Amino acid sequence: MMTAYGAIDIAVESLKKGAYDFITKPLDVERLVHLLNKCIQHQTLIRKNILLEKQLFERQTKIIGESKKIKNILNQLKIIAKSDLTALITGESGTGKELAAKTIHEWSPRKEKKLIIVNCPAIPESLLESELFGYKKGAFTQAMADKKGLFEIADKGSIFLDEIGDLSINLQTKLLRFLQEGEIRPVGENRTKKVDVRIIAATNHDLQKKIEKDLFREDLYYRLNVVNIRMPSLYEIKEDIPIIANFFLNEFCIMNNIPQKTFSPEAMDLLVNFNWTGNIRELKNIVQRTALFSSGNIISMDEIKFDKRGSSKAQYFNEISHLNVDLLEIPYHQAKEQILRDFSVDYLSEHLKKTKGNVTLAAQMSGLDRQYFQQLMRKYNILSERFRLQ
Ligand SMILES: Nc1ncnc2c1ncn2[C@@H]1O[C@H](COP(=O)(O)OP(=O)(O)O)[C@@H](O)[C@H]1O
Ligand SMILES: [Mg+2]
Repeated sequence: MMTAYGAIDIAVESLKKGAYDFITKPLDVERLVHLLNKCIQHQTLIRKNILLEKQLFERQTKIIGESKKIKNILNQLKIIAKSDLTALITGESGTGKELAAKTIHEWSPRKEKKLIIVNCPAIPESLLESELFGYKKGAFTQAMADKKGLFEIADKGSIFLDEIGDLSINLQTKLLRFLQEGEIRPVGENRTKKVDVRIIAATNHDLQKKIEKDLFREDLYYRLNVVNIRMPSLYEIKEDIPIIANFFLNEFCIMNNIPQKTFSPEAMDLLVNFNWTGNIRELKNIVQRTALFSSGNIISMDEIKFDKRGSSKAQYFNEISHLNVDLLEIPYHQAKEQILRDFSVDYLSEHLKKTKGNVTLAAQMSGLDRQYFQQLMRKYNILSERFRLQ
């Protein structure tokens, strides 16, 4: 509760900040009460805003789900958060790896300090080292002054290294040194610096396979994989789809200040049985888009706005509308890779769906040999088992 003293303090502050007409005119009690009331209202609004921001943050960092798998993950995250161990989070894209990392940080004693999120493949290799470890003035032409790296900025906090499987061998070695010694060496600096940072890493690659191909250091893998959490694909936690979809729908309506909507039972059935190759991220996008375009308060089956991923006739290359803003914001090669990935996941999944997970048949239908088809499945993390279940 706001005390009268608090309000008076603010009134005095306002006076100091130039409410000079108050001083130049004779003191009148009515005006003083008016000013105090305004201060109290102002304070109440600030408090309300802080509370709303907090609630919003909690909503965004809340792992939803009541299945055994999700409950298990929440328990594991609680234990991991209390320890200071390096954690490796694995799982397909869109399964909540970043959300799990945020949860670990939020539940850890480091929560008051920073959590720095680094999407490794998004930063060009030539910049990543100086971004992570900083540089000394004069280390290269553009280095006009010393620059702190993200590890130093995250000191006493945590760093989330997303898509660690894409890190070059050179940077893997430097990361390993940090994990062994707790030290970093800024580019162009002779001396090392101690920093206290908790590492949480994530990957959707099979790191064991990368190790076999000498693309990932085995010693780094063991250092990172002190504790491991595997986020389940959405088809593994199908029973959670209604609660997760409703959560996104409610969140969308609240955030956009529109009347609360609900899914009809048939619409929900469709969501539960859809082949979510993009996992929870894809579910979230579709729920949001559906909520935006649906007319009434009850969303019917026909109103669900599946994207082209849901259609076997996906024509990524001649439908420019598919190029959403995100793609245009990333470099050409990365955007091309993204389109290729989306197309390949769709294409292979559609054939696997038709053949109920029979890889030989799906390869034949695609005009590819079985080995190459399997290679693509591995590359894009497509499991034939999930099509057998449907
Ligand atoms: N269990 C969950 N409950 C609620 N939201 C989730 C859950 N898992 C993922 N999300 C949401 O789905 C989106 C994708 O999750 P993210 O953590 O970025 O996945 P990943 O890093 O594995 O690709 C985010 O908006 C995230 O908040
Ligand atoms: Mg991610």
